[in-house]
Amino acid sequence: MKKGLIATTLLGLGLFVGCTTAPILFDGTGPNPPNPPNPPGLDNPCPDGVVSFQAEVLPLLVSNCALSGCHDANSHKEGVVLDSYDHVMKHIKANNPNGSKLYKSITDSGGDDAMPPYPYPRLTNEEIDLIRTWINQGAENTDCTPACDPENASFAANIFPVINTYCVGCHNDNLSEAGINLKDYQHIRAVALSGQLLGTIRYESGYQPMPPSGGQLNDCYVTQIQKWIDEGAQDN
Ligand code: HEC
Repeated sequence: MKKGLIATTLLGLGLFVGCTTAPILFDGTGPNPPNPPNPPGLDNPCPDGVVSFQAEVLPLLVSNCALSGCHDANSHKEGVVLDSYDHVMKHIKANNPNGSKLYKSITDSGGDDAMPPYPYPRLTNEEIDLIRTWINQGAENTDCTPACDPENASFAANIFPVINTYCVGCHNDNLSEAGINLKDYQHIRAVALSGQLLGTIRYESGYQPMPPSGGQLNDCYVTQIQKWIDEGAQDN
Protein backbone atom coordinates (compact mmCIF):
# COMPACT_ATOMS: atom_id res chain seq x y z
CA MET A 1 0.00 0.00 0.00
CA LYS A 2 2.72 2.39 1.10
CA LYS A 3 4.96 1.25 -1.74
CA GLY A 4 2.14 1.92 -4.17
CA LEU A 5 1.73 5.41 -2.82
CA ILE A 6 5.45 6.15 -3.16
CA ALA A 7 5.50 4.75 -6.68
CA THR A 8 2.52 6.90 -7.62
CA THR A 9 4.20 9.94 -6.11
CA LEU A 10 7.44 9.30 -7.96
CA LEU A 11 5.56 8.76 -11.18
CA GLY A 12 3.70 12.01 -10.65
CA LEU A 13 6.89 13.91 -9.90
CA GLY A 14 8.64 12.28 -12.84
CA LEU A 15 5.94 13.43 -15.21
CA PHE A 16 5.96 16.87 -13.71
CA VAL A 17 9.72 17.41 -13.71
CA GLY A 18 10.37 15.43 -16.87
CA CYS A 19 8.16 17.62 -18.98
CA THR A 20 8.33 15.36 -22.01
CA THR A 21 5.71 14.04 -24.33
CA ALA A 22 3.23 12.96 -21.68
CA PRO A 23 0.68 15.51 -20.54
CA ILE A 24 0.81 16.17 -16.81
CA LEU A 25 -1.70 13.80 -15.32
CA PHE A 26 -2.42 13.14 -11.67
CA ASP A 27 -4.67 10.29 -10.71
CA GLY A 28 -5.80 11.88 -7.48
CA THR A 29 -4.27 9.28 -5.16
CA GLY A 30 -0.89 10.84 -4.30
CA PRO A 31 -0.34 14.08 -2.40
CA ASN A 32 -1.11 17.30 -4.27
CA PRO A 33 1.50 18.18 -6.86
CA PRO A 34 3.79 21.06 -5.97
CA ASN A 35 2.65 24.43 -7.27
CA PRO A 36 4.35 25.32 -10.53
CA PRO A 37 6.96 27.99 -9.83
CA ASN A 38 5.64 30.26 -12.57
CA PRO A 39 3.34 33.26 -12.42
CA PRO A 40 -0.05 32.88 -14.11
CA GLY A 41 -0.16 33.62 -17.80
CA LEU A 42 1.81 32.08 -20.57
CA ASP A 43 5.29 32.78 -19.24
CA ASN A 44 7.61 29.84 -19.01
CA PRO A 45 5.11 27.11 -18.15
CA CYS A 46 7.69 24.31 -17.88
CA PRO A 47 10.12 23.76 -15.03
CA ASP A 48 13.76 24.77 -15.39
CA GLY A 49 13.38 26.83 -18.53
CA VAL A 50 12.16 23.91 -20.64
CA VAL A 51 10.14 25.28 -23.56
CA SER A 52 6.68 23.78 -24.02
CA PHE A 53 6.10 22.93 -27.66
CA GLN A 54 2.33 22.63 -27.24
CA ALA A 55 1.82 25.68 -25.03
CA GLU A 56 4.38 28.10 -26.46
CA VAL A 57 5.84 27.14 -29.84
CA LEU A 58 2.81 25.70 -31.64
CA PRO A 59 0.44 28.60 -30.80
CA LEU A 60 3.10 31.00 -32.01
CA LEU A 61 3.41 29.20 -35.34
CA VAL A 62 -0.33 28.74 -35.75
CA SER A 63 -1.17 32.30 -34.81
CA ASN A 64 1.46 33.83 -36.99
CA CYS A 65 -0.79 33.74 -39.98
CA ALA A 66 1.98 34.73 -42.32
CA LEU A 67 3.89 31.69 -41.13
CA SER A 68 1.17 29.13 -40.73
CA GLY A 69 -2.31 30.56 -41.26
CA CYS A 70 -1.39 30.96 -44.87
CA HIS A 71 0.19 27.55 -44.55
CA ASP A 72 -2.58 25.74 -42.74
CA ALA A 73 -4.11 22.47 -43.80
CA ASN A 74 -6.55 24.21 -46.13
CA SER A 75 -4.34 26.61 -47.99
CA HIS A 76 -0.83 25.15 -47.65
CA LYS A 77 1.12 27.37 -49.98
CA GLU A 78 4.23 25.56 -51.13
CA GLY A 79 3.08 22.55 -49.15
CA VAL A 80 4.13 24.03 -45.81
CA VAL A 81 1.73 23.10 -43.02
CA LEU A 82 2.58 24.22 -39.50
CA ASP A 83 -0.42 23.16 -37.46
CA SER A 84 0.87 20.12 -35.54
CA TYR A 85 4.07 18.67 -34.09
CA ASP A 86 4.52 16.19 -36.94
CA HIS A 87 4.05 18.85 -39.57
CA VAL A 88 6.40 21.31 -37.87
CA MET A 89 9.08 18.62 -37.49
CA LYS A 90 9.34 18.31 -41.27
CA HIS A 91 11.16 21.64 -41.16
CA ILE A 92 13.22 21.13 -38.00
CA LYS A 93 16.44 19.30 -37.18
CA ALA A 94 16.59 18.65 -33.44
CA ASN A 95 19.56 20.32 -31.70
CA ASN A 96 20.49 22.09 -34.92
CA PRO A 97 18.74 25.44 -35.40
CA ASN A 98 20.94 26.52 -38.28
CA GLY A 99 20.26 23.24 -40.06
CA SER A 100 16.50 23.69 -39.60
CA LYS A 101 14.65 25.18 -42.55
CA LEU A 102 12.04 26.80 -40.36
CA TYR A 103 14.64 28.49 -38.17
CA LYS A 104 16.61 29.68 -41.19
CA SER A 105 13.50 31.22 -42.73
CA ILE A 106 12.56 33.18 -39.61
CA THR A 107 16.11 34.49 -39.19
CA ASP A 108 16.90 35.10 -42.88
CA SER A 109 17.05 38.84 -43.32
CA GLY A 110 15.60 39.25 -46.79
CA GLY A 111 16.28 36.29 -49.06
CA ASP A 112 13.51 34.59 -50.99
CA ASP A 113 12.92 32.14 -48.18
CA ALA A 114 12.56 34.80 -45.49
CA MET A 115 9.43 34.23 -43.40
CA PRO A 116 7.06 35.78 -42.70
CA PRO A 117 7.25 37.46 -46.12
CA TYR A 118 6.77 41.16 -46.73
CA PRO A 119 4.56 42.97 -45.63
CA TYR A 120 4.04 40.89 -42.49
CA PRO A 121 6.10 41.77 -39.43
CA ARG A 122 9.02 39.49 -38.61
CA LEU A 123 8.96 37.47 -35.40
CA THR A 124 10.36 39.32 -32.39
CA ASN A 125 13.78 38.44 -31.01
CA GLU A 126 12.09 36.86 -27.99
CA GLU A 127 9.98 34.64 -30.23
CA ILE A 128 13.01 33.61 -32.27
CA ASP A 129 14.96 32.88 -29.05
CA LEU A 130 12.11 30.71 -27.83
CA ILE A 131 12.12 28.62 -31.01
CA ARG A 132 15.92 28.32 -31.00
CA THR A 133 15.90 27.21 -27.36
CA TRP A 134 13.22 24.62 -28.08
CA ILE A 135 15.27 23.21 -31.01
CA ASN A 136 18.42 23.14 -28.87
CA GLN A 137 16.51 21.30 -26.14
CA GLY A 138 15.89 18.47 -28.61
CA ALA A 139 12.76 19.75 -30.36
CA GLU A 140 10.55 17.39 -28.40
CA ASN A 141 6.78 17.40 -28.28
CA THR A 142 6.80 18.92 -24.80
CA ASP A 143 3.39 19.62 -23.35
CA CYS A 144 3.73 21.30 -19.98
CA THR A 145 0.54 23.13 -19.19
CA PRO A 146 0.97 26.73 -18.14
CA ALA A 147 -0.29 27.59 -14.69
CA CYS A 148 -3.88 28.73 -15.13
CA ASP A 149 -6.43 29.50 -12.44
CA PRO A 150 -9.94 29.83 -13.90
CA GLU A 151 -10.78 32.30 -11.10
CA ASN A 152 -8.19 34.81 -12.34
CA ALA A 153 -9.59 37.11 -14.98
CA SER A 154 -7.46 40.23 -15.10
CA PHE A 155 -7.15 41.72 -18.56
CA ALA A 156 -3.42 42.48 -18.32
CA ALA A 157 -2.31 39.36 -16.44
CA ASN A 158 -4.58 36.70 -17.93
CA ILE A 159 -6.67 37.71 -20.92
CA PHE A 160 -4.19 39.68 -22.99
CA PRO A 161 -1.36 37.10 -22.88
CA VAL A 162 -3.73 34.41 -24.18
CA ILE A 163 -5.13 36.53 -27.01
CA ASN A 164 -1.67 37.80 -27.86
CA THR A 165 -0.33 34.25 -28.16
CA TYR A 166 -3.27 32.67 -29.97
CA CYS A 167 -4.95 35.37 -32.03
CA VAL A 168 -3.01 38.57 -32.70
CA GLY A 169 -0.84 37.08 -35.46
CA CYS A 170 -3.89 37.08 -37.77
CA HIS A 171 -5.80 39.98 -36.24
CA ASN A 172 -3.59 43.08 -36.10
CA ASP A 173 -3.00 46.38 -37.92
CA ASN A 174 -1.31 44.75 -40.92
CA LEU A 175 -3.58 41.80 -41.19
CA SER A 176 -7.10 41.95 -39.83
CA GLU A 177 -8.84 38.80 -41.00
CA ALA A 178 -12.62 39.34 -41.28
CA GLY A 179 -11.99 42.97 -40.28
CA ILE A 180 -11.20 41.85 -36.71
CA ASN A 181 -8.28 43.50 -34.90
CA LEU A 182 -7.31 42.16 -31.46
CA LYS A 183 -4.12 44.10 -30.86
CA ASP A 184 -5.06 45.95 -27.66
CA TYR A 185 -7.66 46.48 -24.95
CA GLN A 186 -9.99 48.77 -26.91
CA HIS A 187 -10.16 46.44 -29.88
CA ILE A 188 -10.51 43.27 -27.81
CA ARG A 189 -13.25 44.85 -25.71
CA ALA A 190 -15.32 45.66 -28.80
CA VAL A 191 -15.09 42.07 -30.07
CA ALA A 192 -15.86 40.76 -26.58
CA LEU A 193 -18.99 42.88 -26.19
CA SER A 194 -20.28 41.92 -29.64
CA GLY A 195 -20.35 38.27 -28.54
CA GLN A 196 -17.87 37.25 -31.24
CA LEU A 197 -14.96 36.57 -28.90
CA LEU A 198 -16.76 33.88 -26.90
CA GLY A 199 -18.73 32.66 -29.91
CA THR A 200 -15.59 31.91 -31.88
CA ILE A 201 -13.45 30.40 -29.09
CA ARG A 202 -16.34 28.23 -27.86
CA TYR A 203 -16.98 27.04 -31.41
CA GLU A 204 -20.62 28.18 -31.15
CA SER A 205 -22.79 27.70 -34.19
CA GLY A 206 -23.01 30.82 -36.30
CA TYR A 207 -19.37 31.68 -35.61
CA GLN A 208 -16.12 30.65 -37.25
CA PRO A 209 -14.16 28.40 -34.87
CA MET A 210 -11.04 30.26 -33.66
CA PRO A 211 -8.15 29.79 -33.76
CA PRO A 212 -8.79 28.16 -37.14
CA SER A 213 -6.18 25.42 -36.65
CA GLY A 214 -4.07 23.92 -33.87
CA GLY A 215 -7.05 23.02 -31.68
CA GLN A 216 -9.41 24.81 -29.30
CA LEU A 217 -8.12 27.03 -26.47
CA ASN A 218 -7.89 25.14 -23.20
CA ASP A 219 -10.96 25.26 -20.95
CA CYS A 220 -9.23 27.35 -18.31
CA TYR A 221 -8.52 30.18 -20.75
CA VAL A 222 -12.08 30.06 -22.07
CA THR A 223 -13.42 30.24 -18.50
CA GLN A 224 -11.16 33.20 -17.70
CA ILE A 225 -12.29 35.06 -20.81
CA GLN A 226 -15.95 34.38 -20.02
CA LYS A 227 -15.48 35.60 -16.45
CA TRP A 228 -13.68 38.74 -17.63
CA ILE A 229 -16.58 39.53 -19.99
CA ASP A 230 -19.22 38.74 -17.32
CA GLU A 231 -17.46 41.18 -15.02
CA GLY A 232 -17.72 43.97 -17.56
CA ALA A 233 -14.67 43.45 -19.81
CA GLN A 234 -12.69 45.96 -17.78
CA ASP A 235 -9.17 47.24 -18.36
CA ASN A 236 -7.94 45.62 -15.16
C1 HEC B 1 -4.19 31.64 -38.50
C2 HEC B 1 -4.94 32.88 -38.52
C3 HEC B 1 -5.96 33.14 -37.46
C4 HEC B 1 -5.83 33.02 -36.11
C5 HEC B 1 -4.62 32.53 -35.33
C6 HEC B 1 -7.05 33.48 -35.53
N1 HEC B 1 -7.91 33.87 -36.51
FE1 HEC B 1 -9.75 34.67 -36.27
N2 HEC B 1 -10.03 34.69 -38.27
C7 HEC B 1 -9.13 34.23 -39.20
C8 HEC B 1 -9.75 34.21 -40.51
C9 HEC B 1 -9.08 33.77 -41.81
C10 HEC B 1 -11.08 34.68 -40.33
C11 HEC B 1 -12.17 34.80 -41.38
C12 HEC B 1 -12.88 33.49 -41.40
C13 HEC B 1 -13.94 33.43 -42.44
O1 HEC B 1 -14.66 34.42 -42.59
O2 HEC B 1 -14.09 32.38 -43.06
C14 HEC B 1 -11.21 34.98 -38.91
C15 HEC B 1 -12.36 35.47 -38.34
C16 HEC B 1 -12.49 35.80 -37.00
C17 HEC B 1 -13.64 36.44 -36.39
C18 HEC B 1 -14.91 36.86 -37.12
C19 HEC B 1 -15.70 35.61 -37.46
C20 HEC B 1 -16.90 35.41 -36.62
O3 HEC B 1 -17.50 34.29 -36.73
O4 HEC B 1 -17.30 36.30 -35.86
C21 HEC B 1 -13.39 36.56 -35.06
C22 HEC B 1 -14.28 37.19 -34.00
C23 HEC B 1 -12.09 35.99 -34.82
N3 HEC B 1 -11.57 35.55 -36.01
C24 HEC B 1 -11.50 35.90 -33.57
C25 HEC B 1 -10.31 35.20 -33.33
C26 HEC B 1 -9.83 34.90 -32.01
C27 HEC B 1 -10.51 35.29 -30.70
C28 HEC B 1 -8.66 34.23 -32.17
C29 HEC B 1 -7.78 33.63 -31.09
C30 HEC B 1 -8.39 32.72 -30.17
C31 HEC B 1 -8.41 34.10 -33.61
N4 HEC B 1 -9.45 34.69 -34.27
C32 HEC B 1 -7.30 33.50 -34.18
C33 HEC B 1 -7.82 33.88 -38.97
C34 HEC B 1 -7.29 33.66 -37.71
